[in-house]
Formats: sequence, C-alpha cells, structure tokens
Amino acid sequence: MEQIDQVKEGTAYIEDKISVKPRLAIVLGSGLGALADRVEDPVVLPYGEIPHFHTSTVQGHSGRLVTGLLQGRPVVVLQGRLHYYEGLSMAEVVFPVRCLKMLGVDKLIVTNAAGSLTPDFQPGDLMLIRDHIKLVTDSPLRGRNIDEFGPRFNDMSDPYSKEIRDLVKECGKKLNIELKEGVYCYMPGPSYETASEVRMLGLLGGQAVGMSTVPEVITAVHGGMKVLGLSCITNMGTGIVDQPLHHEEIIRVGEQVRKTFITLLESIVGAWPPN
Ligand code: HPA
Repeated sequence: MEQIDQVKEGTAYIEDKISVKPRLAIVLGSGLGALADRVEDPVVLPYGEIPHFHTSTVQGHSGRLVTGLLQGRPVVVLQGRLHYYEGLSMAEVVFPVRCLKMLGVDKLIVTNAAGSLTPDFQPGDLMLIRDHIKLVTDSPLRGRNIDEFGPRFNDMSDPYSKEIRDLVKECGKKLNIELKEGVYCYMPGPSYETASEVRMLGLLGGQAVGMSTVPEVITAVHGGMKVLGLSCITNMGTGIVDQPLHHEEIIRVGEQVRKTFITLLESIVGAWPPN
C-alpha cells in the first residue's frame, strides 16, 4: 500500500475515535511522558491499535496517542516516540507526524532528552532548540515526493520558529524558569557517541546531542507546521566528564525536571496563538 494511503487509514482511525479537533501536537521524549497525564477528558489510543503505527520499544516511551484538553485547548500528545535505531525506516519513524498533518495539526512541540556538548549546559537544564545539524542517515523525505505532504525541496531557514522561540522565552521569564538556547545535533544511535564524536559536534557548533527529533521536525516543516523544539539536558556528552553513560540516568534526570517541564509546557500551550 502507498504511504499516503496508509496515512489516510491511520488518520481516519484516529479521527473516528476522538471528539476534539486539535491543531497543536506535542511529542514527548524519554522520561518526559508525564505531561500526557495532565490532559483533560483524554482519549487514549495505544499505537498498536492505530493502523500502520509502529509501537515504541524503548523504556521510558509508552507509545500512546492521547487527545483531549490542555489549558482548555484541544491537543494531541504522542506519549513516546519512534526512533530510527529501533530498526524502522525513516518513513516509519515519521509516520505519526504525517498523520498529525492530515488531522489538521499545524503547530508541533517536540521534546527530547539530550546530552550536553559544552560545560555551559548541565544536566537538568532546559534548552530551546534554535537549529539542528544532521550529518548522517537518510532524510525522511528521501524517495518520491508526496505533494500532499509538502514540496520536493524543503526550506529549512527557520525550522524552529523564531517567533515561537521568542514567545517561549517570555513564558520562561514569567515563570522564572531559566532557558538555554542552542543547536541540537542528531546522531542515529543506539550507541552513545564516542568522546571524539562529542568533540567534533561541539566544534561544528552544536550544544546538545540526541537520537531523535530531527526526522520529525524535517517532516513537520515539510508539511508547513510551526515547530518548537525543547531539549532536556540529561547528561554531559561522552568525554566532557570522565564517566560512562547509562539510559537509566537519562530517565532519572528527565523525571527530576518533570514539574518544571510540565509548568513550562502548559504555559506555552496557553500562550501559543491559535492561528
Ligand atoms: N547522546 C545521545 N542521545 C542522548 C544523550 C547523549 O548523550 N543523552 C540523551 N539522549
């Protein structure tokens, strides 16, 4: 079956089950899933129920699509995401984002856990993504372009909307939540980076590194969505401190920032203009 038809089937299934018409979606990264519990009047669809969705295989990612109200506003939350390193194709990784586009979503908040490439960014810090660097792996847009999704050659001059970053900085100020801002480097994983890779990414201009987000953002921008990217710095990148990295530590730091993270995201959802 053509991908466009799969997206139509997946979207039709979701539309049939939900009673709201969300234009804003939130993708929750490792250890950051708790926001989904704040959604009022939730309708919860496990990924496994939705035609052509893959289920998430990673600890800390529940794999549920939750719709309902947040700050009185209809939202759709992807609690748990899919990663390229799970063995999926890029098209499979971004399938949920394509369904969001077809549902009518035009605003996307993407969150992740990330390693720091600089001593200035420490575990527990929240970082607004200003831009990204993707060195390797396919683009999710590789292959025949599907014109319903977006243009063949996709502009990436403002992928993380400056207008929305400014709005988020205002939210941070009001709430007294310190926000860093930086460039997120995409690495495919699932190995963490070597110390030399971390040094390279820092030299290239990155402040954070992770194994997600960029495929979804490329797809969302292709589909004309306004995107906000937010990283929770969960650890120092390999070699910045002389310590091995463990997934458990990343989940734990994600849980430590849970309250601040939820407060900030709720404020952003309330402040993001509806049109
Ligand atoms: N590297 C890659 N992905 C990550 C890291 C990291 O240091 N921390 C959280 N996700």
